[in-house]
Amino acid sequence: MKIASIIGARPNFIKTAVVSREIRKEFEEILIHTGQHYDYEMSGLFFEELEIPEPDYNLGIGSGMQGEQIGKMLIATESVLLKEKPDLALVYGDTNSTLGGALAAVKLHIPVAHVEAGLRSFDRSMPEEINRVLTDHASDLLFCPTQAAVDNLAKEGITGGVRLVGDVMADTLEYNREIAEKRSGILEELDLLDKEYLVATVHRQSNTDNRENLENIISAFCELELPIIFAAHPRAVKYMKQYGLCRKLSNNIRLIKPPGYLDMLKLMAHSSKILTDSGGIQKEAYMLKVPCITLRENTEWVETVRDGWNVLVGSARAEIIKMAREFKPVGEQRDIFGRNAAERIRRCIKEVNAGLV
Ligand code: UD1
Repeated sequence: MKIASIIGARPNFIKTAVVSREIRKEFEEILIHTGQHYDYEMSGLFFEELEIPEPDYNLGIGSGMQGEQIGKMLIATESVLLKEKPDLALVYGDTNSTLGGALAAVKLHIPVAHVEAGLRSFDRSMPEEINRVLTDHASDLLFCPTQAAVDNLAKEGITGGVRLVGDVMADTLEYNREIAEKRSGILEELDLLDKEYLVATVHRQSNTDNRENLENIISAFCELELPIIFAAHPRAVKYMKQYGLCRKLSNNIRLIKPPGYLDMLKLMAHSSKILTDSGGIQKEAYMLKVPCITLRENTEWVETVRDGWNVLVGSARAEIIKMAREFKPVGEQRDIFGRNAAERIRRCIKEVNAGLV
């Protein structure tokens, strides 16, 4: 069986790492990188650190308007799929590369498997929400990380091909936790003490492209006492420059380039709290037992909020400051995200292979 994995952005790489290792035990894999993320810090570094095999194709799509980006992906991926004739296309998460890949495959009648299926924020203004919904409805095999994801799909009438396998990001974290502790020297490099700093990331369109929201977030960060390691996504830097916010940063904020996976893992694990609008980081914070303050009005990872380890503050300045100072989780962590998701995915693909091809 030949599987074409289509990836393109940072969160896709983190998920692919463990799944690719598993499926190559039994199947042939062709790796197609759309080129959505192209900076070394956003792409190459992850391939090196997580030992992801060299892509067979890099489509070099790059940045652009949503329609332009997805349209180019569709055209380029289609021609690779026509040439390679895979038996299954594997896509991950909710990025434009996920939708571009799923659409190209389903139109060629190639069965699609979606890793991290069923997640919903119920916020249609997020590009990622549209990508999730459309990818799920185009998929034949839907690998869900949580029971909530399975329930979301059932409400949309999707029951066939749905498998609750757990979260592949939990596998990646488990695999790399000790490695990060040993190899990463980021705390020494930045002169940080355990639990005496905050980590922040901002990249959602609703927070970066909206001047008022970004100003609120940055001015809240400036009010805080603890050092903030601000691991800035290129999109955030672009808009901070545009809005003149780089000049206004107070001394407690340390703007750093997006770190690799191992440095980020170590930074998060030793931080006192995390402020983020990322989806993946919310659950990594939960798994690392670090309180998370989410700079969004909603979340796909409802369990982390329900268990008291994550609080949604949006871009409200006063609320960000208050929670960054006072938020203290009370509840216990549960095993929400499961274990060995990548192995389960390999087994499922094997089981349904006869029916799919
Ligand atoms: C994408 C995903 C998002 C994911 C995020 C993680 C979509 C719709 N969004 O958002 O789900 O959480 O990646 O990183 O797919 N840029 C660079 N260098 C790069 C990549 C991007 O400078 O290597 C800049 C460009 O200015 C670009 C902007 O970032 O215009 C946005 O990039 P894009 O790929 O459109 O989406 P992300 O915001 O990265």
